[in-house]
Amino acid sequence: MADKILIIGACGQIGTELTLKLREIHGAEAVVASDIREGAEELMQSGPFEILDATDEPGIRAVVKKYEINQVYLMAAMLSATAEKAPMKAWNLNMNSLFHILEMGKEGLIDKIFWPSSIAVFGPTTPKDQTPQITAMEPTTVYGISKQTGERWCEYFHRKFGVDVRSIRYPGIISYKTLPGGGTTDYAIEIFHEALKNKSYTSFLAKDAELPMMYMDDAIKATIDIMEAPSEKISIRSSYNLAAINFTPEVLAKEIQKHLKDFEISYEPDFRQQIAESWPSSIDDSQARSDWGWKHDYDLEKMTSTMLKGVGERLEKSTK
Ligand SMILES: NC(=O)c1ccc[n+]([C@@H]2O[C@H](COP(=O)([O-])OP(=O)(O)OC[C@H]3O[C@@H](n4cnc5c(N)ncnc54)[C@H](O)[C@@H]3O)[C@@H](O)[C@H]2O)c1
Repeated sequence: MADKILIIGACGQIGTELTLKLREIHGAEAVVASDIREGAEELMQSGPFEILDATDEPGIRAVVKKYEINQVYLMAAMLSATAEKAPMKAWNLNMNSLFHILEMGKEGLIDKIFWPSSIAVFGPTTPKDQTPQITAMEPTTVYGISKQTGERWCEYFHRKFGVDVRSIRYPGIISYKTLPGGGTTDYAIEIFHEALKNKSYTSFLAKDAELPMMYMDDAIKATIDIMEAPSEKISIRSSYNLAAINFTPEVLAKEIQKHLKDFEISYEPDFRQQIAESWPSSIDDSQARSDWGWKHDYDLEKMTSTMLKGVGERLEKSTK
């Protein structure tokens, strides 16, 4: 049977590009996008779309039945910075949506599930450099607690009920097609917009706040690769460490200055600096590399030049 895919939270930063890529691979009709709101024109016009609340279990079941869905990518979540402002709302969304999907996997209604975790599962007691796959995990944010708990439930549903759930701990994802959704790493996107518009940027993280990051195309590639890998290659059913680039705001600014000589950066760290301080600076992702062949393509130079070009073109279009 050909795959029929449902993406929940498809209008977000990652969901938008993931939907477009999956439609390219499987054909438009095989990939149903859904969200609580409408998204970018490119997404809305390229295939089927449903308004769907990730916490509405009967609603999800109805869409799964209507389109004979057998794979779900659950991308809806409240991200780190936003979740700190609405902890219980974040907990309810991040946990209940996952339970609904895992339960449907247990019942055999869905064959395969993708659920993203995050580097936010780590905390101040985690080794910061080359953070191992298995290590101390004491997250201090609501978001991190929800992701760590989610990982435990994924592994439990796999071990106990054989649910084929696969997961990646995304680092900060950098892209230009859709704006980011309220995370601690959003500065690494805002900086490009401000550099091109105003030639200056005030960073909400300190200049030496080093975090693991990844360009969107690599994140999409990893997501699709892990879902396409044979089941026996997936030895970790909580979530895989995944890495590409690490840098500080100062290092990123210097890279941008190679293209825009008069760009200036200043620093006014806010509450997000504390979140950043609790996260790793770099990640050991050797398990993902050996289990299912993960390899990134974008380094700092390639990511920076791609972002400057992409954001530049978008800004030009919006002023026309
Ligand atoms: N972007 C990153 O840097 C990053 C890093 C680590 C992990 N992640 C994870 O990847 C996933 C996708 O992240 P993103 O950056 O695309 O997030 P985003 O905030 O850009 O998108 C989330 C989408 O979910 C939708 N949504 C919110 N509440 C919903 C609900 N009740 N029902 C249905 N949809 C709802 C929103 O409208 C939005 O379109 C999340 O699980 C996130 O935790 C993202």
